Order: sequence, then structure tokens, then C-alpha cells
Amino acid sequence: MNPLKQILTSVQFIGLPATLRIVQATLLRDWYERRFREPAAPEIAPKSPGELLGVEAAPSGARCKFTNAELEILFLTPHLVRLSWEPGQLPLPYAIAKTEWLPVDVTISSSRRPRRRGRRLEQNGFTLTSGEVSLTVGADGGITYHAGDVELRAEHPPRWEGEAWTQHSRLDAEERIHGLGERAATLNLRASAPESSVTYQMRNTDPGGHYSTGDDPLYLNIPLYISRNPRRSANSSYLIFYENTHQGEISFGAEESAVHFKGGMPRYYFTAGTVAEVVENYTELTGRAPLPPRWALGYHQCRWGYKTAQDIREVVAGFKEHNLPLDAIHLDIDYMDGYRVFTVDEERFPDLAALTAELKEDGIRTVAILDPGVKVDPNYSLYQEGVKRGLFCTTPAGKPVRATVWPGECCFPDFTNPKTRAWWGEQYSKLLDLGVDGFWHDMNEPAAFVGWGPPSVPSITRYSMENRGALHSHLDALHLEDDGETQTATQFYGGNHIEANNIYGLMMNQAGYNGLRQLDPDRRPWIVSRAGWAGMQRYAWNWTGDVGTSWTTLRQTLITMLNIGLSGIPYTGSDIGGFGGHPSAELFTRWFQMAAFTPFFRGHSATGTPRREPWVYGEPYTSIVRDFLNLRRRLMPYLYTLAQEAAQTGAPLMRPLFWDFPEMADVDDQFMLGDSLLVAPVLREGAESRRVTLPPGEWHSWWGEGVWEGESEVEVTVTIERIPLFVQEGRGSELRGRR
Ligand code: GLC
Repeated sequence: MNPLKQILTSVQFIGLPATLRIVQATLLRDWYERRFREPAAPEIAPKSPGELLGVEAAPSGARCKFTNAELEILFLTPHLVRLSWEPGQLPLPYAIAKTEWLPVDVTISSSRRPRRRGRRLEQNGFTLTSGEVSLTVGADGGITYHAGDVELRAEHPPRWEGEAWTQHSRLDAEERIHGLGERAATLNLRASAPESSVTYQMRNTDPGGHYSTGDDPLYLNIPLYISRNPRRSANSSYLIFYENTHQGEISFGAEESAVHFKGGMPRYYFTAGTVAEVVENYTELTGRAPLPPRWALGYHQCRWGYKTAQDIREVVAGFKEHNLPLDAIHLDIDYMDGYRVFTVDEERFPDLAALTAELKEDGIRTVAILDPGVKVDPNYSLYQEGVKRGLFCTTPAGKPVRATVWPGECCFPDFTNPKTRAWWGEQYSKLLDLGVDGFWHDMNEPAAFVGWGPPSVPSITRYSMENRGALHSHLDALHLEDDGETQTATQFYGGNHIEANNIYGLMMNQAGYNGLRQLDPDRRPWIVSRAGWAGMQRYAWNWTGDVGTSWTTLRQTLITMLNIGLSGIPYTGSDIGGFGGHPSAELFTRWFQMAAFTPFFRGHSATGTPRREPWVYGEPYTSIVRDFLNLRRRLMPYLYTLAQEAAQTGAPLMRPLFWDFPEMADVDDQFMLGDSLLVAPVLREGAESRRVTLPPGEWHSWWGEGVWEGESEVEVTVTIERIPLFVQEGRGSELRGRR
């Protein structure tokens, strides 16, 4: 965003005096960056692996030596293989959930006889196979991947430039690409620039209010993509996951993809199969979302601007009065004392425990927001402790680094330090004791307010990054415990912002989740988080942040959520109507109707915008919203079945059509909720009908309007009361009798 726009947005949301403080904070950030500027790295000639010198069999894989590099190939299962190139720092295993794998039988064969090039005898490369997946490593380190006889991927060897590295792979013209976490882009991530190149940033960032199509990066990046090629059979999709927390970028051009990271080793995982299988294999590695508490699957009401307990009571009374079911109410930052995290404003919420108990009697759970920034305030115990125990991120000189967020100047917990995680996790008891049931992690990219430049903590920020020392060999990395917490000696490596930025949210989620598990082992923790990284599904749900209010962003949100699901995160949702605008009654209703079928179903809006509770638009809208709230309730057993499936296989609840119907390649304005319910939200203003693509099979209208023969496109008449909804013949036993 340009600086002027950034400053104006800030004035709109937080007023002029606060904006002036932000300008001051940005000057401090600039000072930090000048003071600790590192000398420019000397120009280093790019380096490639050189020539293949030899291959050695290793358990479940092989090690190969090149003139300038080493490659370790390790099959974790016959379908999932890990590649690690040295030089480069090993990643800390933040993403990885499964560390013990059974041995895999692999065979190595030399590709051809060694060949003479000039006067040198050159190794021709070799093939390593598990029987399911084969890798052919060429003499220069280029690798082709096969499943059976089908070539799925051909990659060039990585090239290093100092700490940074780049790798190119061939792309077929027909190949479709999905994943990369949260993207305001097309479902096929190549589609916006089929002839040229499109680049996605691997850097979690707060795009700052009202993002829309084309804005990149957003809050949550995940360095994995799925490739599908309609010219190949359905089980010839593949997924590639770069286990590299560093900032970087991934581009897709007409003929090649390019992956670039600013540091860390080229380490990546490859798996092949159907789309469902590759997600299953990836989530076997990085973990799956545990079953949520049942209430979390219901409807949540939220608004930034419910300022007092009285406001909350009035909203809840509104739901009752209009006979609208409600499962959870969220407390935005207004409940805190001066935005100090883990405190409650005693004047505005004089007896939070009584309020939450009262709500619970009505079957409504309370969720409280938590931001990572800890206010710099010598009289605030959390701040004092954090400083005293050295739990905050620091400058290179070891002083807690400061940046400005809602409370003003803040320090930032260093979630890469296990001590910080344990300390942070303990704090949840304060809110649990007050009857809060769920937690909303926000601003954890980490976000900071700036007048110009990246909206985060200063780039010179230092993180402890524990246990690096323990990772002296590749294979050892496999035997680290899940969360790093159980290890004995903590050794700190000292990571910078380029390495730690992307995992800040993930580790905050881990801290919260583990804390909640410890505080109340009998209760399923529930957290929704704006930022995260690979593996966040183990700890938290996600929502798509401050999306703009428009028909374009409604349509965008559908696609964004599908790519999040394909990135291993089964639970996501959006602010109904967009975050910071004033949706028309029609846009609000259409958004609500879509959201009723998304995993996380929450109405939310920004402070200062016109109120948006489901009854404010009057009739017929209130009744329509009521119908969809009731429908959601009736779907609960079905949703719960899907939650169980997500926990077992990693399948997202909301799926693109090609998940089950690979021939439905490019449908991006409909989705399947589970394998039974086809949802075609209305995404155009004033629509009187919409085109629906029906996959093969017989499709029953949910609304009892008849049966359609599949493998067809049908034009379905729509009124404001309904969106097209179909159940496939022979599926959906859980749905029987729920209409
Ligand atoms: C961020 C969140 C938004 C929240 C606001 C105030 O902008 O994305 O949902 O309402 O902060 O806490």
C-alpha cells in the first residue's frame, strides 16, 4: 500500500492522534533499521550442485554427492518422499507432526552407463524407486518424478546465491496449481496470467483493511502447492511442500515454476496421487485438525465495537427476540483494559464471569480475542514478567524490540522460545476462569502499525529459534518431538525476522493450544487464528481477515477458502458481508447464505461501520437469515461427520468440485460441502438465475424442486430466499430427513 493510503486508512480506523503516534513509531522503526543495518553481503557467484560424483544407499533412501552440494533422499512412505539439499540451514521442524516412520524398501538403479564428456567420465544419474514413486536424479542434479510410467514433474537443480536459493521446475501448459495458503487469487493460481508469470509472496503480512482480488501477500502463507493436469489420470496429481520458514516467493510462468527462498536449505516433500490422497499424505506429515467442540460449528456473532457487557446482552436479546439461533459471541479488543492482552476492563465488563455464565445458560459460548503485542507499561505484570524473564523478541543488541499496535507501544512475545510458549499458555487460565470458552488470535503475522514500509515489527527483530543445535544431521531431525517442548537442553540459534516472520502465528497458536490442553485436559481447545503456517491445522481454525465489502470480494472469498482447504487447513470462514464496509441488504444476505456452508460461520464487522446484526436489514432478510441459521443447525450431524473425516484424513470440509469429480476442472464459483452437498452461492447482484455445473450423477434439489441429470450445466432460477443446493443421489445418508 502506498504510504499516503496507509496513513489515511489508519486515520479512518483509529483517528488522528493515534495515527500521529504511528508515524512516530515508524520513525523509531527506521532508526532501529539504520542502527542495526547489516553490511551488504558481498556479491557471491551463483552456485549449482555441479556434477554428480556418487550415490550411496541409505535407509529408506539415498545420499548423493555433487561437486558443490549433497542431496539426501528419504522415503517416509512409498508415496511420500523428502529431499534435502546441502548447503543450507536445516529447518526447525515446526510444521512436522509425525516423526516416526516405518522403513520403506527402495531400490536404486543406475540410469545408464557412465558417459564420457570431453575427457571426463560423467555419472549419468540414477533412479530411486519405492515402487509407487520414482525419482530420476540426473548428472547435474535435475530430478524427474514418476508414478508408474507417467512423468509428473521435472525440476532443475537448485541454485544458491549466498544464503538464498532458487529452483525452477517445468510446467505443462495444462497444469493447474492450487494451494499456497490464503490467496486473493484465482482457484488455479496460474489462471490470471497463463501466458506470462504470476508471483506469490511467501511472507505473512497484514494487508491492512479491505483487501481484494490481487492483493498479495495476505496473513497466512503455506509453501505448498498441488499440481493437477486434466490430461493425466486423476491419480496423477502431486503436492510439493517446501519446509522452509524463510520469506520467499513462488512464481508460475507459462512453462516453469520458480521457487525462491531467502535462506534455509532446499528441503521439500513430494507426494503423488489423487488430490484427496496428496492432502491426506501431506497432513499425515504435518498433522490434522483435532475434533472441535460442537458449538464451534454453529453460528458465531461478532463485531468490533460491542463495547460493554450491556452491548453484548442487547445483541443476545436481539437474537432471542428475532428467534435466531446463536452458538457463540466474540469479544473483540473492546473488552480489554487499555488493550492489554489477558486483562478485562472492569468498568465496561464489571463481571465477565457472570456474563459468560448467563450466556452459557442460553447455550451461547464466549470467545475472546488475544493479540500478541504486550503493552509497554511498567505497571502491567505481563510486561514486567516478559522483560524480566527475557521472553520478548529483541533487537540485535538484546533489548526487547518495540512496535506499535492497538495498545500503543508493545513488546512481542518470542514464540520460538519454548519458555515463552509455556508462559503464554498459562495466561489463558485467567480467561478460562471467567468462563471464556474459545480464543481468537489476531494480529499474529505479527502485525504492527506503520506509516510506511512493511506493517510488522522491525526487520532487525531477533528470535531465539530453539534447538537448532540438536539438528546436526538430517535423520536426527526426524526424531525430535512434536512440539519441541519435550526436549531437554534448549539450544538457541538466534533467528532473524526473515526466518521467523512466517512461523510467528503458528507458534502463538501452538502456545495457546498446548496451554489450553494443560489447563483443562478434558476440554477440546478452540482457537481461530488470522496467521499461521504449515501445520497450523493442529492448533487452530482460520478466517480470511479484513476482506473488503463487495460482490468481487464475496466471489474472491469462496476461492480463497478453497485454496486454504487444499493447503491442509480444513476450517476457515470469512467476515459475513466483508469487514470494513456497508454491504447492501442483498450482498449481506448472499454472503450469509454462502457462509452457512463454510466451516467457520461468523458475522463480523469493523468499528464505525453501520450495524449488521442479522435483523438490521428488516424483512424479508431477517427471515431468510433465520432459515439459513436453522438449516445450519440441521446440518450439524453432517458437519460433525465431516469434522471427523478431517481429523482422520485431513480432507477440508469445503472442497472444490474437482476433489471428487476430477473432470470438473475449473469450476470456481461452487463448492462441495463434504461429498454430498453441492453449494452454488449467488455471487452476482440482482441475479435472477445462476448457472450450476452438475458433476456426473443424479442431483436432487435440496429445496425439493426436482431431480437433475448430472454432467450438465443447468440454469437455475434464484430468488433472494434461496441459493441452489443439491444432494447427489446415493450419497448423503447423514442428510436424510434434514431438509
Ligand atoms: C483486525 C482483525 C479484525 C478485528 C480488528 C480489531 O483488523 O482482523 O477482525 O476486528 O483487528 O481487533
